[in-house]
Amino acid sequence: MAPEGRYQRVLVTGGLGFIGSSYVRLLLTETALEVVNLDLMTYAAHPETLQELTSDPRYAARYTFVKGDIADPAVVRRALEGCDAVVNFAAETHVDRSIHDAAPFVHTNVEGVRVLLDAVREAARERPVRFVHVSTDEVYGEVLEGLSREDDPFRPRSPYSASKAGGDLLVGAYGVTYGLDTVVTRGSNNYGTHQFPEKIIPLFITNALDDQPLPVYGTGKAIRDYIFVTDHVRGIHAALLRGRRGEAYNLGGQNQTDGLSVARTILDALGKPHTLIQHVQDRPGHDLRYALDITKATRELGWRPTVTFAEGIAQTVRWYQEHPDWWRPLKAAQAAFFTQQYAQRS
Ligand code: DAU
Repeated sequence: MAPEGRYQRVLVTGGLGFIGSSYVRLLLTETALEVVNLDLMTYAAHPETLQELTSDPRYAARYTFVKGDIADPAVVRRALEGCDAVVNFAAETHVDRSIHDAAPFVHTNVEGVRVLLDAVREAARERPVRFVHVSTDEVYGEVLEGLSREDDPFRPRSPYSASKAGGDLLVGAYGVTYGLDTVVTRGSNNYGTHQFPEKIIPLFITNALDDQPLPVYGTGKAIRDYIFVTDHVRGIHAALLRGRRGEAYNLGGQNQTDGLSVARTILDALGKPHTLIQHVQDRPGHDLRYALDITKATRELGWRPTVTFAEGIAQTVRWYQEHPDWWRPLKAAQAAFFTQQYAQRS
């Protein structure tokens, strides 16, 4: 009997990032699966997050770390040895960075996915290997009304979302053309503990803690559907275990909120004045709304999000208050990005 469903050993790519590390934690603490974590250790990786867990003798024997690029076939082939599933979190994820330079986004989110798929194709000649690809609600583009469903057309509008759409489409194409066992998940905006402080929620919390302005893009009316990261990774795991071959599943948090409300909620949680809100120049091509229909995931995976925005924000704010040693060095190391990104916007 395998440790979880028919799986024994899972290759998690990008497992030192925010969402990937939350998934590695779930696999180590709630399943008996062996985990291989392949991560390039870019600016967004934070190895110390998993250190305590992976050095614990209860988990260390089931955990292997490989440093490398998912676009490097030799590294991928080695990491994949003995694995019967791949869950791909590795990605360049920040929309604003993609606007400055799209190259790393195409490299990792398109070419990297292609290399992973070819490696899985090769491995699948010897044993069944399932490929779960973590995609995003941004592939559907801006949805001003209603909810995006899995069979809606893709209308990406930023270099980031176009690169994720490319990867997502490749996964579908490899399923059809080569008969690969693939499943895609399309998540909404993640938040929670250990998120690199460039996305709106951790950026605003850490700025507010330092009494720095909260830079709200444009009117602050753009809507996102926030999902607590542990809810998201439970959905991804359900897709690995129960997702139908060749299908995609929307994983949304059911918390549609705009940027201005996010800023106010965070300031209220910290007892800071709303005068810290500063409207700055809008993001070029800013998608004004994403919203997911999660009926399919609910029915077929038996999954639904459980953490309300109020609970999730309270927990997240508390964690950043208590862990300045975690986020301060990360933010300091990216000072040049923050200056380039925000100085010209104000
Ligand atoms: O929807 C899922 C996506 O969510 C993921 O696929 C992406 O990898 C992830 O980066 C995220 O993309 P967004 O662009 O929605 O996230 P971000 O936190 O950058 O922005 C969220 C909203 O907040 C958006 O309307 C822009 C606004 N914003 C963002 C930043 C960083 C601000 O008003 N000020 C800011 O400084």
